[in-house]
Amino acid sequence: MLANHVIQVNDLQRSLSHGGRELHILRGITFSVAERQWVALTGPSGSGKTTLLSLLAGIDRPTRGSIYLDGMEISHLSEDQLARFRNDTIGIVFQSFHLIPTMTAQENVETPLYIGPRRREARQLARQMLERVGLADRLHHMPYQLSGGEQQRVAIARALVSGPRVLLADEPTGNLDSATSKQVLTLLKELRTQLNLTVVMVTHDPQVASWGDRRLHMIDGRLVDVPVAQATLDGELHYPAGMGV
Ligand SMILES: Nc1ncnc2c1ncn2[C@@H]1O[C@H](COP(=O)(O)OP(=O)(O)O)[C@@H](O)[C@H]1O
Ligand SMILES: [Mg+2]
Repeated sequence: MLANHVIQVNDLQRSLSHGGRELHILRGITFSVAERQWVALTGPSGSGKTTLLSLLAGIDRPTRGSIYLDGMEISHLSEDQLARFRNDTIGIVFQSFHLIPTMTAQENVETPLYIGPRRREARQLARQMLERVGLADRLHHMPYQLSGGEQQRVAIARALVSGPRVLLADEPTGNLDSATSKQVLTLLKELRTQLNLTVVMVTHDPQVASWGDRRLHMIDGRLVDVPVAQATLDGELHYPAGMGV
C-alpha cells in the first residue's frame, strides 16, 4: 500500500461464463489514486468501465487481483462487512440518478443514514447536505418535480451524506445538457475540495474528462494511462510514442 493512496488496484481481473464461453471483461488492471485526486475513466462502450466501478464499489467481486480502499483489502470481506464498509467509505452517483420516486429530496438523502449510528441526526445532516448542493429550497420536492440537474444534486447529496472519502460516479452528466453538466461538475469540484474527496468519474465525453486531474483510458478490459494534456477535445486520444495500446 503506497502512502496517501486511497485506491490501489492490483492485477484486477473479472471473467464471466457466458453461453459456455469464458468472457474476459477486465484483463489485469493495475493503478492507484492519491488522496483528493480526481480521475476521469474513459473508454469506448463495452470496454469495462462500469464493471471496474462496480468492483471498486464492492457491488461486484473480482475473479483475480486485489482492491485496497482506504488501506482495506475489500475483495475478501464478507457481505456484511462489505455493506458497512461501502456505507462508510464510498459514495456512488449514477447517470440516471436512481432516486426513490416516492420519497422527497430530503428523505432520499436521509436513507443512507437509517442503517448507521447517525440515525437520529439523519434529518439534520440531510438538510445540511442539500443546502450544500444548493437545494435548500427543494427539501420537500418529489424527484418528478425537480429538473435533471436538481435530481443529480440530490443524488450527490445522498452519496456524500455519510461522509465517504471516495466518490465513484458513472457518467454523472450523461443525462444532462452541457450547461447543466458544467454546473454539476463545478459543484463536484467544490465538494472535492471542501470534503477532501477522492473521485473516480466514468465519462465518454472528453470535455467532461478534462475536469479530472488525470485520465485513465480503458480499451477492451485493459488500461492505458493518458495524461490530460495529451487528450484533445475532438474526442481523439493521442498516445505518447511507445505506450502501445
Ligand atoms: N453480467 C454480464 N453478462 C454478460 N456480459 C457482461 C455482463 N456485464 C458486463 N458484460 C460485458 O462486459 C463488457 C464490459 O461492460 P461494461 O463494464 O458495462 O462496459 P462500459 O461501462 O465500459 O460500457 C461488455 O462487453 C458487456 O457486454
Ligand atoms: Mg458503463
